[in-house]
Amino acid sequence: MLEVVEKLKSEFEAKLAQSKTHEEIEAMRIAYLGKKGAVTDVLKDLKNMDAEAKKQVGQQINALKDEIEEKLRLQAKKMEEIKFQMAMENAEKFDFSIPSCQEVGSLHPVTIVQRQIENIFKSMGFIIEDGLEIQTEYNNFEAVNIPKHHPARDMQDTYYLSNGQLLKTHTSAAQNAIMRKYGAPKPGEPLRVLFPGRCFRNENIDASHENTFFQLEGMMIGDNISISNLIYFMKVLLSEVFERDVKVRLRPGFFPFVEPGFELDINCLICGGKGCPTCKQSGWLELLPCGMIHPNVLTMGGIDPDKYTGFAFGLGLTRLTMMKYGIKDIRVLNSGNLKALKQFK
Ligand code: PHE
Repeated sequence: MLEVVEKLKSEFEAKLAQSKTHEEIEAMRIAYLGKKGAVTDVLKDLKNMDAEAKKQVGQQINALKDEIEEKLRLQAKKMEEIKFQMAMENAEKFDFSIPSCQEVGSLHPVTIVQRQIENIFKSMGFIIEDGLEIQTEYNNFEAVNIPKHHPARDMQDTYYLSNGQLLKTHTSAAQNAIMRKYGAPKPGEPLRVLFPGRCFRNENIDASHENTFFQLEGMMIGDNISISNLIYFMKVLLSEVFERDVKVRLRPGFFPFVEPGFELDINCLICGGKGCPTCKQSGWLELLPCGMIHPNVLTMGGIDPDKYTGFAFGLGLTRLTMMKYGIKDIRVLNSGNLKALKQFK
């Protein structure tokens, strides 16, 4: 019987020396120690032996079991070490000093200006909100006092979707949802929200018109908000963005969702007011339509117009970006032309 144990042991060692993978080791564990394994088989023979032999052979077999287990464990560990060493050797061949992609990305000019304005308004207590690009007719028109068949709808050539919804034509489409989200302001704590967004209109594209452009809208509602607040905020906005004095003019403007409404134009910074294609030869650019929020719009937003007033402005963010950087052709901004867009850091 003892020879059987010895034979098993030398056979195991020969196989172990040849094993190279964890799978092979696992297979050997099953072949020797498993329920139907070689060692277990020998143990079964014990029952036919006398007590003395049983004791002796039993001890031998148990020792063999322990030995096999330990050797399998060591072999697996050795393999791990070899694997690690090989990985290290390969790593040494890798030259970490080779420069990788050196190209540093840049922000889109519209993003740069948008963030700048967001920071100015955040410092004045404004919250930044995000409106959906796909909107219902209600939000885009009705809720801002443009009922069906109102001629103002023709001012904004709209892309309608097959499900009756539309691509928002102006950031004002978010006004109603924002009023409903925040509700009536507490006394002395006016609601101040800034909501930039991409807008879409079915326009013929030329140097100063795009069908996809950015607006940045702001709204302030409280128990004591007046036109002087509106003018103050517009002045801060423009002087911070241009970091210099810009000539502006305020004239009456019609938008169904404000009353009174204004158009704030700035002197064209591309031609200095002499007239160019960007300003349609007029020397002025419509940049900042604004006004006091119409009572109907407040009512639809769930805010009592007898208690609260507010102003709103809809800055042409794309246009402002063009003015700030002297970009003559609006088409550059959506062109994906990295050579042009990367200049703005
Ligand atoms: N939503 C208007 C437009 O796109 C701009 C605007 C916003 C005017 C807020 C007044 C107040 O034409």
